[in-house]
Amino acid sequence: MQILSKNSNETVKLGEEIGKKLSGGEVIALYGDLGGGKTQFAKGIARGLGIKDNIISPTFVIRREYRLDSRRMFTRPLAGGNDKEGVIRRSSGKKLNLLHYDFYRFEVPDRELVESMEEGINPDNVTVIEWAERVEKYLPKDAIKITFKYISENEREIEITPGSQDLEDKFSKLSF
Ligand SMILES: Nc1ncnc2c1ncn2[C@@H]1O[C@H](COP(=O)(O)OP(=O)(O)OP(=O)(O)O)[C@@H](O)[C@H]1O
Ligand SMILES: [Mg+2]
Repeated sequence: MQILSKNSNETVKLGEEIGKKLSGGEVIALYGDLGGGKTQFAKGIARGLGIKDNIISPTFVIRREYRLDSRRMFTRPLAGGNDKEGVIRRSSGKKLNLLHYDFYRFEVPDRELVESMEEGINPDNVTVIEWAERVEKYLPKDAIKITFKYISENEREIEITPGSQDLEDKFSKLSF
């Protein structure tokens, strides 16, 4: 499925619509040009999941974790980084954490990092990975693959490969 996004907001909106369809355990692998809109899209996914936090590009922290805490919003460092924990609330009631990775700086990610990523792939979380080509061989077969191509200052071509028939059916009804 191919979409021409005409501005940044459209890309966020597309992410949001896809985020709303997720039920947990999905891996969303993002590919393509620098400045292609991967982080903008991730921001939309967060919104679709009901996350109120501001999503920032995790390029320099590898992973940001937006975790549910029903009482309050807080930030605190996780082991080994400046990672952030925030609050998510999901209208459906199911509480999903967003794990947002960016492997731009990791041509060959180390085993520990890959293992922690693999552990995060479970029904409680949605995993979004920028520069997914760096971890291609560790991605599950049903990963949702999305490629961003720079067309002009405000236009991006976005190609979505859902990874399973079930997801394909869900995404065919996107109200985007
Ligand atoms: N149609 C569009 N979709 C998404 N972003 C757009 C669009 N048009 C313009 N932009 C701008 O392009 C930039 C995209 O940046 P973003 O950080 O999302 O890219 P990225 O793919 O994550 O890059 P990187 O590989 O550096 O992580 C933003 O500044 C955004 O405002
Ligand atoms: Mg980015």
